[in-house]
Amino acid sequence: MKELRRPALLENHPGLLFGLKSCDDWRPRFHSHAREVCWQQRASTAARALTAAPPAPSPEKEASKADAWSSTRIPKSINEISNGENILGFGANLSADHPGYNDEEYKRRRMQIVELAKQHVPGQPVPYVEYTPAETAVWGEVLTKLEKLYPDFACKQFLDTFSLFNFRPDRVPQLQDMSEVLQQRTGWTIRPVAGLLHPRDFLNGLAFRTFHSTQYIRHGSNPMYTPEPDICHELLGHVPMLADPAFADMAYSIGLASLGASKEDCWHLTKLYWYTVEFGVIKEGEQLKAFGAGILSSFGELEWFQHGKGDQRPVFEPLDPFGKLTKMSYKDGFQKKYYVADSFEDLSAKIKEYATYLHNKNKVTSLDLSILQ
Ligand SMILES: [Fe+2]
Repeated sequence: MKELRRPALLENHPGLLFGLKSCDDWRPRFHSHAREVCWQQRASTAARALTAAPPAPSPEKEASKADAWSSTRIPKSINEISNGENILGFGANLSADHPGYNDEEYKRRRMQIVELAKQHVPGQPVPYVEYTPAETAVWGEVLTKLEKLYPDFACKQFLDTFSLFNFRPDRVPQLQDMSEVLQQRTGWTIRPVAGLLHPRDFLNGLAFRTFHSTQYIRHGSNPMYTPEPDICHELLGHVPMLADPAFADMAYSIGLASLGASKEDCWHLTKLYWYTVEFGVIKEGEQLKAFGAGILSSFGELEWFQHGKGDQRPVFEPLDPFGKLTKMSYKDGFQKKYYVADSFEDLSAKIKEYATYLHNKNKVTSLDLSILQ
């Protein structure tokens, strides 16, 4: 496969990593068009979305992004984390190779949903989105295809919680309904977001047991492909796992560790999030099962992590939050390395230990943490 260069811009906008490689049949499709599109290229797509088209970012906005990396201010409540200000990509600014780039109606529709998200106030119900029949068909196709794979590839916790959400192909779930299930199960809340949040904001949100979720859906021209997080990825990849108490506690631990973290530590936590919540793998007896949303929402990655391709296989290693985490794979599709958890309880304990280390290092006091709401 042609090697795709990692766009330099990603180094400066790692929030793009919070996108996904979602349900896809991209290999045959794009090979037949002499064009190779993969997760890394999608990240590249996202990067270009930041540069290719107007509007150019204002100096104030750029300064705000820079501040988000360097600022170690600890938000005292979820209200202090904006879900619409520090957006690194997407929203309505689609890159030229986004499936919806030339579809003005699609872009208008996205903006409609983005504006709803921006208006949302924490504590209030998530705005209702009346999904169109075309959007519902996209959701239904993705759900139908993925759920057939889950029994073989998904971890036990995912399979146990999946049925709580009563996913149906003829109805795109509302974030509010999903949030209410999570509230009852684990105390987590789903908050709509206008696009890709800065990693610090996103990670800080986890400390308030809040998961920032997109509400718009991928373009209907190819339901098996999206260059960005959309509601299919959020609901099928993330939400069922957040209904598991041990997983939810692990995700909370990452958020806790991010509070007051230095820029370098925040970047390490971005990778820790990547190799757990997005691409985590867990032992089940002699088998490895997926719990990361980036795997669970990708047809190709589900197959790859277990079976490899040809004579190629990914590498598996135990996860040590204190250790160096390998460079995230952007440029050639699936992850080359996955980190394996023994259990969510074990992972959570390790991450909490790491959080304590970071708090001591960054002089985050127990008083700082006790005033969080
Ligand atoms: Fe995700």
